[in-house]
Amino acid sequence: MNFMKITGKIDEIRAQVKAWKKEGLSVGFVPTMGYLHEGHQSLIARAVKENDRVVVSIFVNPMQFGPTEDLASYPRDLDRDSALCEATGAHMIFHPEPEEMYAPDFCSYVDMSVLTEELCGLSRPVHFRGVCTVVTKLFNIACPDRAYFGQKDAQQLAIITRMVRDLNMDVEVIGCPIVREDDGLAKSSRNTYLTPTERKAALVLSKAINFGESLVKDGETDCKKIIAAMTELIESEPLAKIDYIKIVDALSMEQIPTIDRPILCAMAVYIGNTRLIDNFTTNL
Ligand code: PAF
Repeated sequence: MNFMKITGKIDEIRAQVKAWKKEGLSVGFVPTMGYLHEGHQSLIARAVKENDRVVVSIFVNPMQFGPTEDLASYPRDLDRDSALCEATGAHMIFHPEPEEMYAPDFCSYVDMSVLTEELCGLSRPVHFRGVCTVVTKLFNIACPDRAYFGQKDAQQLAIITRMVRDLNMDVEVIGCPIVREDDGLAKSSRNTYLTPTERKAALVLSKAINFGESLVKDGETDCKKIIAAMTELIESEPLAKIDYIKIVDALSMEQIPTIDRPILCAMAVYIGNTRLIDNFTTNL
């Protein structure tokens, strides 16, 4: 097992990455909000495979939570997270306090139009500004060669990929497949909020995703019909309340009527008070 360091200090991460780069070593980066699960682990494992050194950040970023969202209750367990990172081969954890990341008079933001206006951007209006701002800061701090993001947050992945392109950031963004529980539920730190009854009900998300994907594979191209079929399935579960189910262009995130290009079919569904997301993509 490699010896892993943990720091909350920006200067220490910077100095370490600089030293690695001086030695000619490549640096992979996995940004997270902690409470790590096998989905995060798959990102870290891939980063370890493709880079000489790997930094994992664990920071519950206040800026990406709305005023009524779960910032205070977001699950945290640094000891467990550190053990998982070390066992998976990460070399350093960056775990800053909010004060280290945001000065009291902080007033610079990274904002994006178009891609942030659909899907989760509609029900979480401040979310992507917070994500873009913190990811930019983390890239500036860790200066990675490659950064790894999960496809479960498909809109986030598309937005970060576009931000890196638009702003000429010198990092390769790598999207990694969704990791699921044995019964199909997409892994998420928020799954811990579910009661046993809700956990069973939450299966309706992956069932609807599989159903929608099978319709597309069987040749259905009418987005309205696909969404209606998925909606009916989800509405058959009394504990589920749909936030959205949409089919969008995989690059622009704009809604489309017909499947005639690569698409993202994404949904957010409340199971009780817990908002869960899932999606499928097709390349056509
Ligand atoms: O996906 C997440 O966990 C977060 O949005 C991220 C990318 C770590 C930024 O806070």
